[in-house]
Amino acid sequence: MDTTATTLPSIDLRRVDINPDFWYPIAWSKDLRRGKTIGRRFGRHPVALVRPQDGTVFALEDRCAHRQVPLSKGVVEGEAVKCCYHGWAYGRSGRCIDVPYLGKGKLPNGVKTYPCREAGGLIFIFPGDAEKADAIPLPPLAQVDNPAFKTRHFSPAVGCHYTFMHENLMDMNHQFLHRRQMGQIRARFLGQDEGENFVEARYSFARSGNQQPLAERLIFGKHVDDPNRVQPIEEVVTIRTTYPYQSLKIHDKDGDLIMELFAAYVPSNADGSSCQTFGLLSVLRPKTPLLIDIIWPALGVFTNRIFLEDKAVVEMEQQAWRELGGDHNVEVFPIVNKLRRLLARHGVPHEDAPRSHRA
Ligand code: FES
Ligand SMILES: [Fe+2]
Repeated sequence: MDTTATTLPSIDLRRVDINPDFWYPIAWSKDLRRGKTIGRRFGRHPVALVRPQDGTVFALEDRCAHRQVPLSKGVVEGEAVKCCYHGWAYGRSGRCIDVPYLGKGKLPNGVKTYPCREAGGLIFIFPGDAEKADAIPLPPLAQVDNPAFKTRHFSPAVGCHYTFMHENLMDMNHQFLHRRQMGQIRARFLGQDEGENFVEARYSFARSGNQQPLAERLIFGKHVDDPNRVQPIEEVVTIRTTYPYQSLKIHDKDGDLIMELFAAYVPSNADGSSCQTFGLLSVLRPKTPLLIDIIWPALGVFTNRIFLEDKAVVEMEQQAWRELGGDHNVEVFPIVNKLRRLLARHGVPHEDAPRSHRA
């Protein structure tokens, strides 16, 4: 057993900010049409995403250099965005390229830019040191590019620190929470793996009741349940936090991938008490081609119900943290402590974190 269970919180994980030197999704491509701009956030930083009529998306600090009005409220003209107030214009480099009532020689400095890329239907920015951006790859995005899979997008906002989300998915011992959706199901811990930047847990599940939910049955096939004994469920579920992202993969009894989830939890306010989830859930298409389209809405309802239970519980954790002034957790599951150490090691101290966090 991991004896560090109760000694970890010399660092309060909820005062550890996410490391900005990674690519983070902050919007769906479909939400930004040509010739438009939208405003998003990375933690305390407002970001304007701009899609010119021609050319790729770019990302600017969402504050006009003049009086800090959001540039995302402005107008896109050619390769530039024009602030809605006095019409100062900014190009993709962030430089101010026009002040309608000033000569060209007197232009003020512009605004910060963020490296920006688009992949898998998502728009990513690199909020940290821009010089590192080219050397850091985008994460694997489930099976978005694999035609054998159909991928569902989801992006709920959750009122909690991003670290609660990692803990929630990694710790499959919480199936009790989902008993109304999934029936009586118990996680069996099969093993773990870890490296410098990842922690992985593998589980199988056993059902002790005989109510297999319809959506689950349609995807995985019917498990023959004998009400008189606990039935093994043969899929293996692998959950991995590869800092700062998380994935969940389900392999069937032959070892073939049948489902894959990519999730990123992007802080969306200054104190870190909320985050925006970006999720891609890829499901292997069944042999009968139309079946996936028939079960798709049911799968959406099923996963959403489960997610709402998770959302409610992590928001309660966040509220308790606020009211009690910190984590007073008694964590007994070794893989969660490993995960907490990973998140603490790779994160950066929140600006109001105690000095001891800043070593
Ligand atoms: S505030 Fe943007 S142009 Fe004046
Ligand atoms: Fe859950």
